Formats: sequence, C-alpha cells, structure tokens
Amino acid sequence: MSATIAALFQRLTHGVYVIGVGEGEQRNAFTAAWVMQVSFAPLLLALSINTRHSSYRLLKEQRAFSVNVLGKDRLDLAAHFGQSATVDKLRSQSWTAGHTGVPLLRDAIAWFECTLEDERPAGDHALVLGKVIDGKLLDPGAEPLAYRDTGALDGAAALFPDSFETS
Ligand SMILES: Cc1cc2nc3c(=O)[nH]c(=O)nc-3n(C[C@H](O)[C@H](O)[C@H](O)COP(=O)(O)O)c2cc1C
Repeated sequence: MSATIAALFQRLTHGVYVIGVGEGEQRNAFTAAWVMQVSFAPLLLALSINTRHSSYRLLKEQRAFSVNVLGKDRLDLAAHFGQSATVDKLRSQSWTAGHTGVPLLRDAIAWFECTLEDERPAGDHALVLGKVIDGKLLDPGAEPLAYRDTGALDGAAALFPDSFETS
C-alpha cells in the first residue's frame, strides 16, 4: 500500500458524486469520484464502477443511473453513501424518482439522469457510458465538493501499489 501514490492520484481533480441506481424496492446509491463528461452530441457522462459493488447489478438491470453532485459541505453524504449496502442508504435521505425510476437526491446541488449507453471492462472496474436524458441545477451558488477534500474516506491508499510498474 502507498499513501504517497494515493496522495499523488488525489491531485487529479475530481468532484464527489452519489450514483443512484435501481427502481421500486430495488434502489441503491453509492459515492463515486471517477465521473466525467465525455461528449457533447450526444451528451455523455462516463463513470468507473467496481463490478463487485451491489449497485453494479442494479445499474445493469435498470440500464440507467443518476449522478448527484455533492456540495462542498456534504462530506457526511459522501461518507454515508460510501458505506456498503448492508444498510438501506436511501431510507434516511430525501429523494425523488427520475423518469427511469433512479433516485435523485434533494440534498445534491445538481443532478443528471442517464440511460446506460455502453460499458467496457477497465481493470478492476467497469467504464460505464451514460446518455444524459435530464438534469437539474438545485443550488446554482453552491461550490461542489472536491475528491481531494475527502482525505482518506475511501481507503484508497490500501489499494494503490507500493511502486509503479516500469515495463
Ligand atoms: C470519496 C469516495 C469516492 C469513491 N469513488 C468511487 C468510484 O469512483 N467508483 C467506485 O466504484 N467506487 C467508489 N467509491 C467506493 C464506493 O462508494 C463504496 O465501495 C460503496 O460501499 C459501494 O456501495 P454499494 O456496494 O452499495 O454499491 C468511493 C468512495 C468514496 C468514499
């Protein structure tokens, strides 16, 4: 494990998001930092998801997901949705269902709703492309939370290698 390499990778600037998946009784959401826009036409977002997350199955089944942008002061939500789904993470939160049924958080500063467009394996994760079908700015003046400001919340230092592979 390498705290030095973890600190290096935290200099790649990311926001902090809650990805909502599923519908009906089968809903869940998890914290993600590896999210980006990848196209204007069509409007596409990409995210990287660990295929062992319980959210992954729901994302594949529903073929949709939401991206909820967290505000600067909502480290509590990043920690809450960073837990595993052994607890019902949405029960204590205020949310509405999007067109596809996926949860949209009322405490986000903005959200996007996406339909699953494509998926590629990416090492120990899957790279998922979503077509943006709706979106809303809930708090236009709010600053987004930065991944770097989440410190060791995701425990990533334990997952980085001790050194780089040079060949
Ligand atoms: C700040 C932060 C960023 C994270 N970024 C990602 C990410 O980009 N992709 C991912 O698959 N997991 C990410 N995680 C880990 C998941 O949120 C975590 O494993 C969660 O328990 C998965 O939930 P689930 O099993 O209910 O789907 C992140 C966690 C934190 C705290």
